[in-house]
Amino acid sequence: MKAALLVESLTGNTWKAAEMIGDKLQQDRWTITGMSKVGNPDHASIQRADLVLVGTWTHGLFVVGQAPWAVGNIANLPAMRGKRAACFLTFALNAGTSIDKLTTAVGQTGADVVGGLEIKRNHLDEHTDLFIERLLGALESA
Ligand SMILES: Cc1cc2nc3c(=O)[nH]c(=O)nc-3n(C[C@H](O)[C@H](O)[C@H](O)COP(=O)(O)O)c2cc1C
Repeated sequence: MKAALLVESLTGNTWKAAEMIGDKLQQDRWTITGMSKVGNPDHASIQRADLVLVGTWTHGLFVVGQAPWAVGNIANLPAMRGKRAACFLTFALNAGTSIDKLTTAVGQTGADVVGGLEIKRNHLDEHTDLFIERLLGALESA
């Protein structure tokens, strides 16, 4: 499988999670076609990928008003019809329904979204493992 990573990150956690996901998938013999910002996407890497992984972080007031950061940028991505996608979202305490909002936004690009997972910022290694396990499971059963 070939995957492109699209990431938004302010303080580096989501970028780190994306790098971990990329490394772990490469260990599983996947090809990573590129990693770029959602707001400045590398179109060639998206075109070459079968699967697009979109990651961002939770922005809100910690107990209310949480939303995926820069979710509006997702609407500017190239049409992804015919590709599969999955989402991940880093957070500190409580992400509310941000993962659902992110999944909906990615689905609106035309991609077939196979799932999404919240990744707690102080459990990046453990939760990126879980993300990959669930991703592989979802792809197998699709
Ligand atoms: C302005 C701001 C608002 C945040 N709001 C929330 C929030 O509502 N809920 C939460 O769980 N984490 C919240 N966080 C924590 C971030 O989602 C978390 O640190 C995330 O991993 C940051 O990703 P990044 O390092 O890739 O920028 C907030 C962080 C910032 C800077």
